[in-house]
Amino acid sequence: MKKNSNAVKGTASKSNGKTIKAKPDAAKGLRDLFVDELKDIYWAEKALTKAIPKMIKNATSEELVTALEEHLEATQQQVTRVEEVFEVIGEKVQAKKCEAMAGLIKEAEEIMESTEEGVVRDAGIISAAQKVEHYEIASYGTLCAFAKTLGEDDAVALLLETLNEEKDADSKLSEIAESSINIEAADKDGEEEEETETMVNTKRK
Ligand SMILES: [Fe+2]
Repeated sequence: MKKNSNAVKGTASKSNGKTIKAKPDAAKGLRDLFVDELKDIYWAEKALTKAIPKMIKNATSEELVTALEEHLEATQQQVTRVEEVFEVIGEKVQAKKCEAMAGLIKEAEEIMESTEEGVVRDAGIISAAQKVEHYEIASYGTLCAFAKTLGEDDAVALLLETLNEEKDADSKLSEIAESSINIEAADKDGEEEEETETMVNTKRK
């Protein structure tokens, strides 16, 4: 019995320790890694074309709806642009599940469920959308750097175009949040306090 538990422990320490055993198809160089990450962002962009419409349906601010609609259109173009990157580097177009984006999309749904419809949910949608944008900015930044090192100049140009679009989308969301939605959402806190106060006063009477 004791021997067995030791054996399990031994196995666990090998797989959960510092060094992870590489899969047979693991990247052997920067180009392989570049292609792998391209597959990841391709999956992520495609998933976003399905997730953003849900955010649009749940948003109430006209400004936010417009920004999300514009970003949905940009995202659809970005899917095509990633396909172009595969083409210019001579690789087959392929998607690989992006666990991070799957998680961020799931979190966006959770945020919508945990907020009252209106400005508060709008503020939540912006927070979720900006987390997505930051993941994309990091991904495209890395992809640009990899492509540069690999001398894939056409790919660099395409990736840079998307990177700038993501940065613009992020700034636009910050602007909307900070100029109106966050302030209006903060006012809702006051309303809630007032409501509670009225309830207490009514009870006292
Ligand atoms: Fe994107």
